[in-house]
Amino acid sequence: MFLNLIVVLMLLSCTCGENPAIQVTLTNKGLQYGKHAGADWIQKNLEHITLPDISGDIDISILGSIDYTLTGIRIIKCDLPEPSVAFYPDATGFKTSMLGLSVALTGEWMTHYGIIHDGGSFDMAVFSVSVNSVVELGKDADRHLSVTSVSCDAQVGGVDMEIHGGASWIIQLFVNHFKDHISSEIETKICPSVEDMIAKFEYHLQAMNVTFDVDQALTLDLSLTDLPVIDVSRLNLGLKGEFYSIKTHTDPPFEAQPFTMPEQQGYMLSMGLSEFTLNSALYGYYSDGGFQILINDSMIPPGSPVHLNTSLMGPFIPQLPKMFPGLLMDLQVYAREVPMFSFQSDAVKLGFQVAVKAFAIQPNGTQTPLFKLNVDSEFISKVWIADGRMKGSVSMNNFTLTLAGSEVGTFTTDALERIAKLGINLALANMNQKLGKGFDLPRMKQAQLVNSVLKMQEGFIALFSDAEVFLTDRDFN
Ligand SMILES: *[C@@H]1O[C@H](CO)[C@@H](O)[C@H](O)[C@H]1NC(C)=O
Ligand SMILES: *[C@@H]1O[C@H](CO)[C@@H](O)[C@H](O)[C@H]1NC(C)=O
Ligand SMILES: *[C@@H]1O[C@H](CO)[C@@H](O)[C@H](O)[C@H]1NC(C)=O
Ligand SMILES: *[C@@H]1O[C@H](CO)[C@@H](O)[C@H](O)[C@H]1NC(C)=O
Ligand SMILES: *[C@@H]1O[C@H](CO)[C@@H](O)[C@H](O)[C@H]1NC(C)=O
Repeated sequence: MFLNLIVVLMLLSCTCGENPAIQVTLTNKGLQYGKHAGADWIQKNLEHITLPDISGDIDISILGSIDYTLTGIRIIKCDLPEPSVAFYPDATGFKTSMLGLSVALTGEWMTHYGIIHDGGSFDMAVFSVSVNSVVELGKDADRHLSVTSVSCDAQVGGVDMEIHGGASWIIQLFVNHFKDHISSEIETKICPSVEDMIAKFEYHLQAMNVTFDVDQALTLDLSLTDLPVIDVSRLNLGLKGEFYSIKTHTDPPFEAQPFTMPEQQGYMLSMGLSEFTLNSALYGYYSDGGFQILINDSMIPPGSPVHLNTSLMGPFIPQLPKMFPGLLMDLQVYAREVPMFSFQSDAVKLGFQVAVKAFAIQPNGTQTPLFKLNVDSEFISKVWIADGRMKGSVSMNNFTLTLAGSEVGTFTTDALERIAKLGINLALANMNQKLGKGFDLPRMKQAQLVNSVLKMQEGFIALFSDAEVFLTDRDFN
């Protein structure tokens, strides 16, 4: 029985075990930077914070009870000690604590004692506040990242209060009662409001899309493949990282291979991208009927040495001008197989197997098939980051052109191969000029990557980076 259970569990873990094609790691350096930016932001934005009213009643044995409300409470000064945040493997989450916070508040008070209503303003100091909170990260049923509060405790060291206005002598009498009462009232409010903040954050996480349409053909799935992994020095998230054709939504006939991100504690974050992600995009385009193009003579630049005109094909296919003189030609070019990237430690290789079908266009519009060529090519690319920009270069590794069928008799393809290579090398030179200038790294409104480096690895590419966060007023609400 027990053995059966183990076998079932193993099978389950095998079928569920899907390798992430994208891994994102936050190191302790990143966590501390994020905390610092967050604490700075909170300190700057404290005056915008609206605090909830505090109300209740105080029982005073002989006199009965006084109902009170403190309202319009504003922070006038706050010494926010630097909180501490750490990865907390016990809860697969974070542990945050803030000790010795003191706040000066001001606001209005109102009391209601029998038929006597009274009111005025107050100044209050709340001191030695400490808050400890543990949150757990997880994965919900929709494979979103989830965050839940595991524990929270808050202590208020004490409250000092001065009452102004109204017939304030009435409550000034009881201000000592008040202080203790309000101190514990504040204490009981801290954790619910921390939990409320976490719940709001969780709500945003749930509302976030984990699949994104990248263009009309492809959608990218960035859902979690597994629970977040946390140890004392980092948080690692595994994301599916698979592109699908929006039309067919089929999985490619290959799978993401597991990979292990190299350690790089010197950076705030790192991201690993498996060749699977790019190959799933190529498969998506391929299964959606991408990678086919019809080339006609009007797409050939006028100065080109070759034109899609049967009369001018003599140097390559001697019999063609005699069999079909003076006709324009069309080329149907399509991928014979899914093009595939292969990531290696020094370069990215891309294999491309293409078929080219040539037709002559008769004066009445009929397309007469002439011949079919198979082209097998492989390109090698390098990518790197310099001056904060992503740069690259591409070169042709090998290129062979063979005759796969002919309606016009056989011919040698050497001359065609030479001219095709020439054309492709020209196109690559053009492309390399653009790649050499580079592209800006993607940046968001509130953050950008700095000090980034790319490292090619076997099967994946790793990006290590620091980040700069710009939190402006009211970014979070
Ligand atoms: C999430 O995806 C849906 C459907 O694709 C889209 O309508 C919505 O705008 C997206 N939401 C966000 C926040 O991007
Ligand atoms: C060549 O193809 C383009 C785009 O499909 C088309 O606009 C153009 O009319 C075609 N030219 C000829 C000569 O067929
Ligand atoms: C094809 O080339 C021949 C020779 O240059 C020319 O006479 C003919 O007009 C061209 N055909 C077309 C359709 O352009
Ligand atoms: C178009 O012309 C070609 C060659 O002259 C001929 O073989 C074919 O039957 C014609 N097609 C039509 C539909 O007239
Ligand atoms: C391209 O080159 C690689 C290595 O140089 C070789 O393994 C591969 O078979 C070549 N492809 C073709 C189509 O010649």
